[in-house]
Amino acid sequence: MNELPIFQPFVSGSDLGAEVLAGLMSNPKTLPCKYLYDGVGSSLFEAITHLREYACSRGEKALLEAHRSQIMGAVGGAPEFVELGGGTGEKAFLLLSTATQTGIRYHNLDISETALDISANVIKSLDNVTFYGHAGEFFEGLPVALRNRRGPVTVLFLGSSIGNFTVSESNKFLTDLRSNLERGDFLLLGTDLEKPVDRLVMAYDDPQGVTSAFNKNLLARINYELSANFDLSKFAHEARWNQPDGCIEMHLRSLVDQAVRISRLKLICSFSEGETIRTERSHKYRGGIIGGWLSSAGWELSEQWIDQPSLFALNLACAA
Ligand code: AVJ
Repeated sequence: MNELPIFQPFVSGSDLGAEVLAGLMSNPKTLPCKYLYDGVGSSLFEAITHLREYACSRGEKALLEAHRSQIMGAVGGAPEFVELGGGTGEKAFLLLSTATQTGIRYHNLDISETALDISANVIKSLDNVTFYGHAGEFFEGLPVALRNRRGPVTVLFLGSSIGNFTVSESNKFLTDLRSNLERGDFLLLGTDLEKPVDRLVMAYDDPQGVTSAFNKNLLARINYELSANFDLSKFAHEARWNQPDGCIEMHLRSLVDQAVRISRLKLICSFSEGETIRTERSHKYRGGIIGGWLSSAGWELSEQWIDQPSLFALNLACAA
């Protein structure tokens, strides 16, 4: 029998107001990409994953479908699955629906409660899996999810979400993740690979304008949640390749000189024409460096599968 989904809310360290204030006061201006994912933003991201130009999700799905039995075999009877930013739960469903063991626990750690609600319903149809949702930051939810672990844990960090970190941040992240786990635990990591720049820019600036809407929704969210008056028509979406850092950047470019009031922060923020707010960085990797990168953080790469059409890699590692 399937238990009802259990939510374990905890005091979340994410603070939209404080982080928006810090980002807009910095030079150049930035906003944290995690705030792109409110209810509307998560739905827009879901729409992005279906775009022809955004091959990443399609490639990863093809890899999961082709190798899920091998993956589930490699992690053996691991009863605990923890997904970081699992969103609406489709990828976990793909994997877990091939599991033959009973009594699996699946924890989705995601910042969007809307996405958690959807994933609870998706996972509910699997009789051998109990769903747990944790709203908030990864390293707040992780100890809670692992508190009563009953055996090996498999962490899923898919979709190249790791790409939002800089190289040094991702090293720290993988090291911190490893220190929360035990020798013999697993990590299934999705990484988007380097590809021609024109393809990358198209993937983040699609002709239908879905990515533009996703990016601008961050301003709409700030208007709504922090009583601001951003005029969305006075900002343009921009995607650019940052060659030295090996990442795509999303920006919002001010089309005019303007001042924006953010009442809850008691802030008036001015923008000059052409000035941008950087809203996201998405790093792209060379397949060959991933093993060394993981091993410097205490993980041993055991398998790497690459989808050639999308140039996306799925990496299975074991905690060394
Ligand atoms: C969810 C962070 C992996 O960086 O490709 C998609 C987010 N931003 N289009 C990515 C995103 C614009 C996505 N990640």
